[in-house]
Parts: sequence; structure tokens; C-alpha cells
Amino acid sequence: MSSLVRVETQDGVAVIAVDNPPVNALSVGVPDGIIAALAAGAADPGIDAFVLLGAGRTFIAGADIREFGKPRPPGARTIFDLIAALEASPKPVVAAIHGTALGGGLEVALACHWRVGVEGSQYGLPEVKLGILPGAGGTQRLPRLIGVEPAAKLIVSGDFVPARKALALGIVDALVEGDLAAAGTAFARQVVAEGRPLRLVRDMNDKLAVPDGFFDEMRRSIARSGRGQVAPWRCIDCVEAAATLPVDQGLKRERELFEECLASPQSKALRHFFFAEREVAKIPDVPKDTPTRPVAKAAVIGAGTMGGGIAMTFANAGIPVTLIETGQEALDRGLATMRANYARTVASGRMPQATMDKAMGLVVGTLDLGAVADADIVIEAVFEDMAVKKDLFGRLDDIAKADAILATNTSTLDVDEIAAATRRPEKVIGTHFFSPANVMRLLEVVRGAKTDKSTIASTMALARPLKKVAVLVGVCDGFVGNRMLAGYMQQALFLLEEGCLPQDVDKALYDFGFAMGPFAMMDLAGNDVEWRIRKHREKTKPPPADLRRSALPDLLCEAGRFGQKTAAGWYRYEPGDRTPHPDPTVETMIVENSARIGMRRRAIGADEIVRRCLLPLINEGARILDEGLALRPGDIDVIWVYGYGFPSYKGGPMFHADQIGLPDVLAQLLRLESEQGRFWTPSPLIVRLAEAGQGFSSLKVG
Ligand code: CAA
Repeated sequence: MSSLVRVETQDGVAVIAVDNPPVNALSVGVPDGIIAALAAGAADPGIDAFVLLGAGRTFIAGADIREFGKPRPPGARTIFDLIAALEASPKPVVAAIHGTALGGGLEVALACHWRVGVEGSQYGLPEVKLGILPGAGGTQRLPRLIGVEPAAKLIVSGDFVPARKALALGIVDALVEGDLAAAGTAFARQVVAEGRPLRLVRDMNDKLAVPDGFFDEMRRSIARSGRGQVAPWRCIDCVEAAATLPVDQGLKRERELFEECLASPQSKALRHFFFAEREVAKIPDVPKDTPTRPVAKAAVIGAGTMGGGIAMTFANAGIPVTLIETGQEALDRGLATMRANYARTVASGRMPQATMDKAMGLVVGTLDLGAVADADIVIEAVFEDMAVKKDLFGRLDDIAKADAILATNTSTLDVDEIAAATRRPEKVIGTHFFSPANVMRLLEVVRGAKTDKSTIASTMALARPLKKVAVLVGVCDGFVGNRMLAGYMQQALFLLEEGCLPQDVDKALYDFGFAMGPFAMMDLAGNDVEWRIRKHREKTKPPPADLRRSALPDLLCEAGRFGQKTAAGWYRYEPGDRTPHPDPTVETMIVENSARIGMRRRAIGADEIVRRCLLPLINEGARILDEGLALRPGDIDVIWVYGYGFPSYKGGPMFHADQIGLPDVLAQLLRLESEQGRFWTPSPLIVRLAEAGQGFSSLKVG
């Protein structure tokens, strides 16, 4: 028997337990172990039935993603062999499910005769999130079991369903309680006692009818979310095959489309991203067992847009939070905005009123800074002014608990300088939330020169209950994300000077896969925010006079076009509507500006637009890696996908660069440098890697 699979006999039932931590993936050896157990049980007259379950924390969470694309050892059995063996079993097989039955795990369960689950278990076919489709019969069996419509939704979204919903849908036949092996055995014994005929999902054909036009409608519904991607469309093709073809032909079609998806660059990118998202939690000098301080209570200082969003994030996680302001009016405004944000979500049906009431009940507003005294973490989100922040941290030092985490949400200021205003710089850390803070998944955790390991570990761990993805970065201007953004935005502006309009640039980047283009993004964020920062910088840190800069964003703000909030920015907006409309006034402004600076406007294609905007991201990302301000290229990818809407199916800017090939990236940078000057000077890391014929993925951490 394989060491990955254990068998115990209980009451004439062979309980087959997959024991392949952490998630009981179907790694090489697991199918062999289960198949051997089935064969042994079939031959044993003392065995009447089987229960298949997972040891440890979960049922089978799917195929082993690390093995994708790798050759299998000769003779190793596959998930297909396993499914065939389950369906051929002459004795009943019951899947007993706790934790997660995902992907290949659920497909294995669908090949069992019955399925029982426990409260808290979850079910899903999340393959689409890896750029593939359920390739072991999931697209053919799930529609047969629960009907085409609900199955199509699950397969195309990759969403998980909780136990009770799974029962209602018919994914599981029963929910059981108590010891899983015992409950599964009892269910199996009952099946045997009642002499129930063996039920195969593949033979069920009574739920395959769909309303006319169902698949067309399904395709229309993913036109936006699935744009540029392969897998969601192939998932629909497969479910359509389930509804229209005999099962064996449907399975054949599924297999062909699975192979196509698996070989696609998108699947490679999404698999990279899956692991990158999990790698970010690993910090070489802050080991997993570093003591963390629990956060039972939070305080947020500043009830503006960011402060309010951060307070909502804590409240959503069930953590009581005190929101502190200096003036009653500002506090009332902040609390009212939070309430209005929740109310909008409730009105849209995405949140029950009771959840809103519970969240708002966890928020206490006050004008008393002394209220930070019982907080485990204090997050400062006040105006971006160093003097104000230093003064505040000095005062916090006197009031906050000795071991409290003192966090700043600054996006532009030096965390070390802020930390130096306290007697405990080791407890000071940056928590750079992204706007809207209650929605955006990214959290840049900024490690100061003196931040201690426990403060880092505690802040990184806090991301989980807050439902954020935390990425550790070092102190530098703009940290990682915004520092890279600067060059991207600059090129977008230069493209306007050279011949583009905002809608041309936005369309090219949207079509590349970004959630939105840079000009729509600026209008959403508010053009005045950067304008203020620019003006401040011009006084404190003026850019070199010979560096090319565009006057366009200043001209826009001088015309009062701050973006969506003034219904006019790079685009114009109808009242109450966020749809950007190209605006002839802006076009005139752009064309006149080109004439004023002596720039002859020319036609610029989408390829050039994308290249010009992405190369600065890659180049600056490489500098950041060289300076040790991000731990891994994958960390930068996670920042860009979750913070800036970079398409996950292209893996992030650094993965994308590797796909282009660094020698090619280097050649493009050198060409642009010779045409346009030092903005394009390649980072030494790109030069080194390209000359060695390597990519960013070859970099080692630590
Ligand atoms: N293969 C290999 N490793 C996996 C894995 C998988 N399917 N799923 C999780 N892991 C690894 C993670 O990389 C992580 O490893 P490290 O500790 O070394 O970082 C570890 O298991 C724990 O994972 P999480 O940190 O994500 O733990 P969690 O408790 O937050 O979540 C989970 C658990 C819900 C199972 C989540 O890991 C998950 O969603 N996994 C992917 C599930 C999936 O996509 N399954 C389908 C696979 S494709 C397939 O099955 C194709 C087919 O049809 C044949």
C-alpha cells in the first residue's frame, strides 16, 4: 500500500484515507494507493463497501498543481485510472467529505456512488482560476448530478459552495455529524442493508435540459469578465458538450479542451500566480514560528476615505475598531460615508442588513486620542504631511500599549523617519492599503529599518482575517507599487503628447487585460490627489530640470477637472454615472499642448502603447529587486495584480517579462534609450540576467 493512502476496516467497510498533507492533493502515488485499496477490498469477502476520505484537515483538494506539465514516472496511475476504478467498483463507494473537495478532488467524489459531507465542508471546481477546466470528468458529471444551469455557473466562476448549499444542490446526498469515518461507515452500511443499486453519475441524464439560448446567454454574461481569457469559454464549451453529446463523447471533448488549456501560456501564468500568492507569506528571516501578537482591537486615526475604508476592513473581520478624528464634523462625515457605503452594498443585495448593523456596531467614533490605549494595533491614516505624522507618532508613543503595533498608512513618506519620532521604532511598520481600502485585496506591509520580526509577523498574519493579501516591501519612495506606477503613468502621458488620446491608451491597456486604463484610473482616484503631491514635491524634491515631464496633468487640474468627483477629468461623466465619455475639450487641450511643446503628433498603435507602458514597470521592478525592496519577482506580480488590476492570466509584470524574454526586453529598452534618452536606461539586473540568458524566475530568495 502507498504511504499516501491508509486503509482501516470498520464494521465490514474499508475506510480508505488519503494522507498527503497539507491538502491531500492527488500527487503521484495517491491514485495508485486508492486503486490498490479498491482492488483489495473487492477481492475480500469480508468487505461490503468503501468509504473514501481525507486524513488531516481536508478531503482531496485537487490535482497536485506542482506536477502539471511534468512527466509522470512510468507506470504511475492517473486520476483517470482512479475514476475508472471507482466507477467499476462492484461494491458501493461513499465519499465522506470534510474541508474542501476541489477540482480533481470533487471529480473523484463524483465518481463515487454516494457523497456525504460535514458542516463546514466546501465544494468547487476552481480549475478556471488556474487557466484550465475540470479535466477529469467534472464538466460532464456535475451537470448530470445537479443540472446544467447550476453546474455551468460553478464551473465558469470557480466559486466554492458551502455544505448546506451543496446538499440543496444535490452535490452531497447527506450531511453527517460526528467522527467522519464512523459516519461514512454508517451511511455505507445503510446503503448495503437497503440493497440499493449502485448509482453512477455518468449514467444520469434527466437533468440535462436547458432553456433555449442558455449557452449564448452564458457566453454573453462573461463577455467582460472573461475577455482575453481562454479557460472560461472552454468551460462553457464543455458544459454544452455535456448537454448535447453522449457522455463518452462529452468526456472526450473535455479531455481535448483540457489539454488545450493546460498548454496555454495563460494557465502557466495563473499557476505561477497561485504559488506567488502563497509565497508572499514566506519571509526568509522571519520564520513561520516567530511569535505574533493577537489583534483583538484596532484604532484608526483619520476618518477620511482611507481611514474609513480601513476601519470597515476591521469591522468586516469582526474586530472592534475605534475611529479617531480631531473634529466632530470630520468624524461625523467619515462615519456617515462608511454607513452609506454599507447601505449601498445592502441595497444591491450583496449584504444582509444584519451584517451591516453588526459591522457598524463594532465601530466607535471619538475625538479622544487617548482611546488608542486599549488597541493592539493603531493605524494612522491622516493627511500626508511628515510634521503632522511625526507629532502624532510622538503622542501615540505616550498613550498606546507597550507592545501595540504602530502602523502608518502613508503612501509617500519615509516610514523610518516616522518611526524615529517614537521611542519604539521596532513596533512601527507601514500598512499601505489601497483605495477603496475595504475592497482592494492588496496590503503592502512596509518594513522599516528597525521594525522587529514579531511586528512584521503579526502584521503579515493580520492580513488573513482582514481578507487581504499582504506583501512585505522595503522603505523607498512610493514603496513597490506606486514607485513602479510612476513610470507607467509617465509614459501614458507622453503618449498623449506624441499622438494618442486618453481613450486610445486606455483601450490598448484594457485590451491587454488591465481592469482599467491609466486615465480612467486617474479619474477614479482623483487627479487632484497627485497634483497636490506633485506641487509639494516640486518644493521639497524638485525633479532634474532635463528630465522630460508632461504639463498635461497640471493643465487638467488647473481646469478643475479632478475626475469622477467633478464629473470631468480625462473624460467627462454624466451625473451619477461612472462611464467615461471621451471629451473634445480634453482632446483640444492635448492637441494644443503637443503644438506648444513642438511635438508632431503621429498615429500610435496598440502594440506600441502597451510596450511603452509595460517596459517601465518591468525596468523599475528589476531595480526594486536589485535594491532588495521586494523579496521576489512573484511578490511584485502579486502587488500588481491585486493593487493595480494587472491581468492575473498574464502572471504579473515580472512573469510577463520572462515570457517576453529578458534579452528581448533589454533590446527594447536599449532601442528606446537611444531614441528617447535615460528614462529607458536598463536596470543592471536586467542586463545581468539577459546576458546570462536567464529570467527573473531564476532569482533565489534570501
Ligand atoms: N496542489 C499542490 N499544492 C497545493 C494545492 C494543490 N492542488 N492546493 C494547495 N496547495 C499547497 C499550497 O501551495 C500551500 O503550500 P505551502 O504551504 O508550501 O505554501 C499549501 O498547500 C496550503 O495551501 P493554502 O495556503 O492555500 O491553504 P488554505 O488553507 O488557505 O487553502 C485550499 C486550502 C482551499 C485547498 C487552497 O489551497 C486551494 O484553493 N487550493 C487549490 C485548489 C485547486 O485549485 N484545486 C484544483 C486543482 S486542478 C485539478 O484538480 C485539475 C483536474 O481537474 C485534474
